[in-house]
Amino acid sequence: MAREKWASKLGFMLAAMGSAVGLGNIWRFSYVAGENGGGAFLLVYLFFVFVIGIPLLLTEVSIGRKAQSDVVGSFAKLSPGTPWFFSGFFGVAASFLILSFYSVVAGWSVYYLWKYVSGDFFTTPEGGYEAAFGGFISHTWQPLFWHALFMVMTIGIVLVGIKKGIEAANKIFMPTLAILLIGLAAYSLTLEGAMEGVRFLFQPNWSALTNPAVYLAALGQAFFSLSLGMGAMLTYGSYLSKENKLPSATIGIGVMDSFFAVISGIVIFPAVFAFGINPSSGPPLVFITLPGIFDQMPFGGIVGLVFFFALALASLSSAISILEVPVAYFMRIFHWSRKMASVLTGSIMFLLGLVVSLGYGVLAGVSPIGDRDIQESMDFIASNILLPLGGLAMALFVGWYFKKATALEATDLTGNAFGPIWYGIVKYIAPVLIILIFLNAIGLLGM
Ligand code: TRP
Repeated sequence: MAREKWASKLGFMLAAMGSAVGLGNIWRFSYVAGENGGGAFLLVYLFFVFVIGIPLLLTEVSIGRKAQSDVVGSFAKLSPGTPWFFSGFFGVAASFLILSFYSVVAGWSVYYLWKYVSGDFFTTPEGGYEAAFGGFISHTWQPLFWHALFMVMTIGIVLVGIKKGIEAANKIFMPTLAILLIGLAAYSLTLEGAMEGVRFLFQPNWSALTNPAVYLAALGQAFFSLSLGMGAMLTYGSYLSKENKLPSATIGIGVMDSFFAVISGIVIFPAVFAFGINPSSGPPLVFITLPGIFDQMPFGGIVGLVFFFALALASLSSAISILEVPVAYFMRIFHWSRKMASVLTGSIMFLLGLVVSLGYGVLAGVSPIGDRDIQESMDFIASNILLPLGGLAMALFVGWYFKKATALEATDLTGNAFGPIWYGIVKYIAPVLIILIFLNAIGLLGM
């Protein structure tokens, strides 16, 4: 059977943007930026996106397009008889870790959407939103229902296939999402006291930069947000043909992704400050703080409904790209049908997600890494370690294993003025920066 393909380059771009823009831009970005100093974090994050992220995005997509295979198969095909394919296993492992918690949190947003649709959250629930959220996530089976529902939707799209499933869904999701988020941001800016939030987001507090943890957090956020280092973009790239030029496409994806991170910052922080809330309130920021704020706004019920609809949509278009990584791999090695691979893989992720979800209920207090709960520990291992390592492997593969001419050709940069810049980044700058940030974070450099 011929390998599936995107119907158009635009279809690929929308799918890749759909992958990039998700909970990472809205839920994760807002609390990580809030915890790491706001404006200063934004600067470091944007620096990483443009200097490391976008060049690596081009690198990752080009590996997939050249090899026309999944994340393990691509390395194996391009470097037969070498151990490079091991880096693909990191990607497959990361996909299980990430989607199992991603689906739990996305399930929360679908639940919130439901609470707004039904009108329950139009007025403060008894005991306030904090108690409502706490009660919901610590409930044993309630969040599991929404986690299951979200996983079923994800599987439902992936099993239909590339063109009719993933591409078609993103063609509807992405324009809708853009309109909703821009509308919300414009509304947020009209709130009284909004400027304080804008200042928090855009005015760097330089003292935050002395903390080495900020760099690791910003690097992890850049990778997570661009869907980088796991093979999601590689797998999407493998459904492209040689005629579709990569550099413009990947710059477009990276710019759109940062644009959406900034836009959701503009949705969230003005509202946070306008209502005198502490921006560093961590992962619950979006689920406790925002509903409380919506409640006090004119038309808040509608704003809440639109916000959680956008969040659910953004999560779904990202989740399908995470599921596609192991699905493409299992279809090839086990000769499973797409249907079988999607249902089986998605079900395993659902089961892993049970542990994440119960981590807020009966397993509360379990903290595998430092003071992180189960979800934060899985996120930490995946985003701050596996993704940068995966990105490092891809950079070394294209920068050092490929000949220079091969690397430039694979990325459509032959004869392009940006070719040497990209090559220098991928060969030296990105690997060195990633390694430095790791060492720095472990404290080896004592900085
Ligand atoms: N980038 C998505 C977000 O911001 C999440 C995501 C999708 C992802 N695919 C990925 C993260 C691959 C890491 C790797 O929500």
